[in-house]
Amino acid sequence: MVPRFAARPPRLSRALPLLPELCILRDPPGIRLTMKAWRIPSFGIDNLERATLADPEPRAGEVLVKVHAVSLNYRDLMVVLGIYNPKMHLPRIPASDGAGMVVAVGEGVTRVQPGDNVCGTFMQNWIDGRPSPEKVRGALGGDIDGMLATHVVLDAQGVVKIPGYLSFDEAATLPCAALTAWNALVHAARLTAGETVLIQGTGGVSIYALQFAKAMGARVLGTSGSDEKLARAHALGLDAGVNYRSTPQWAKWVVEQTDGQGADVVVEVGGAGTFAQSLSAVRMGGTVTQIGVLSQSAEPLPIPTILHKQVHVQGIYVGSRAQFEEMNRALEQNRIAPVIDKVFAFQELPEALRRMQAGKHFGKIVVRGA
Ligand SMILES: NC(=O)c1ccc[n+]([C@@H]2O[C@H](COP(=O)([O-])OP(=O)(O)OC[C@H]3O[C@@H](n4cnc5c(N)ncnc54)[C@H](OP(=O)(O)O)[C@@H]3O)[C@@H](O)[C@H]2O)c1
Repeated sequence: MVPRFAARPPRLSRALPLLPELCILRDPPGIRLTMKAWRIPSFGIDNLERATLADPEPRAGEVLVKVHAVSLNYRDLMVVLGIYNPKMHLPRIPASDGAGMVVAVGEGVTRVQPGDNVCGTFMQNWIDGRPSPEKVRGALGGDIDGMLATHVVLDAQGVVKIPGYLSFDEAATLPCAALTAWNALVHAARLTAGETVLIQGTGGVSIYALQFAKAMGARVLGTSGSDEKLARAHALGLDAGVNYRSTPQWAKWVVEQTDGQGADVVVEVGGAGTFAQSLSAVRMGGTVTQIGVLSQSAEPLPIPTILHKQVHVQGIYVGSRAQFEEMNRALEQNRIAPVIDKVFAFQELPEALRRMQAGKHFGKIVVRGA
């Protein structure tokens, strides 16, 4: 399949110098310069800049979306800090996840029409089936410009209609965090009712995993660095929780909670610093869905545990458009309410990122469209 990279930055902006907001502009003939966007000219939250760029127009096979809301993922923070890909081509418009309305379509587009409410897909080229190197290229806010702009041009194949019961703020939380949790539980772990899932922390992926697992009839155990957040998770259905700061060897607690068996599924977001505990916490023959990279460890990986316990370790990288559409059908049926921590105004992006960096949030942080 030929990779599609249609979610490119506005074409004219490439040829034009960055225009700082508030500077007085004289539009070249035929070009309107009204689009507002956040850009990363060099890494660091303090270096983020608001730019005014040429208005984008959809070409054949593309759609123009007015962005109403964007949600932040830990990955967006890493992108801005330069940890995600220090060699990333800059300037880059950050953020993979946004929701908005289609306002124009290019020639030949039939999947959506003006007036449809949509999200962009995280990986613009992964439509269906198994992942491949071609399909996972073209990630919004990473390989190509992202959603933190008044308008974006996306490939018509790279959008998904949003469930009708969700607001733009809520829908903006779906493309990465929700789909990753869905893919981990439904496709990687093939979760069934009555099984026990362990979530880690109370961020975007983990709270969606809690909500999906409860909707599927599972028992959910969880860790957090905050007792207050554990109490909030209980209100969402968490069956039992443990504070990983006061109980750093929390795997023992998980085993105790499961009659000595261990959890059927671990939604692993901690990374190197939690992986050994996750292997101790999972049951023999259980599944560790490896998703996150939140912590480091100087300890070697306990490889023998994987083979002795015959653990399925499955890496997860968000998911395909088909999985996104499948998840949306489940959301519609179950009327799951996305958990939004706080909504920031467009100009407050640096504050929103700092809230995530400080780990103060519970669920998803949203930044409203400009
Ligand atoms: N592979 C993929 O496709 C994919 C997709 C999405 C996210 N991710 C990765 O998954 C991770 C979570 O992403 P996110 O967007 O959900 O992040 P997030 O919303 O920022 O949530 C992170 C939360 O994890 C908890 N946490 C932090 N350090 C921890 C540790 N050492 N052990 C256990 N919990 C810890 C904290 O919750 P408490 O305050 O409750 O402790 C923190 O708020 C990140 O590493 C991200 O890059 C990967």
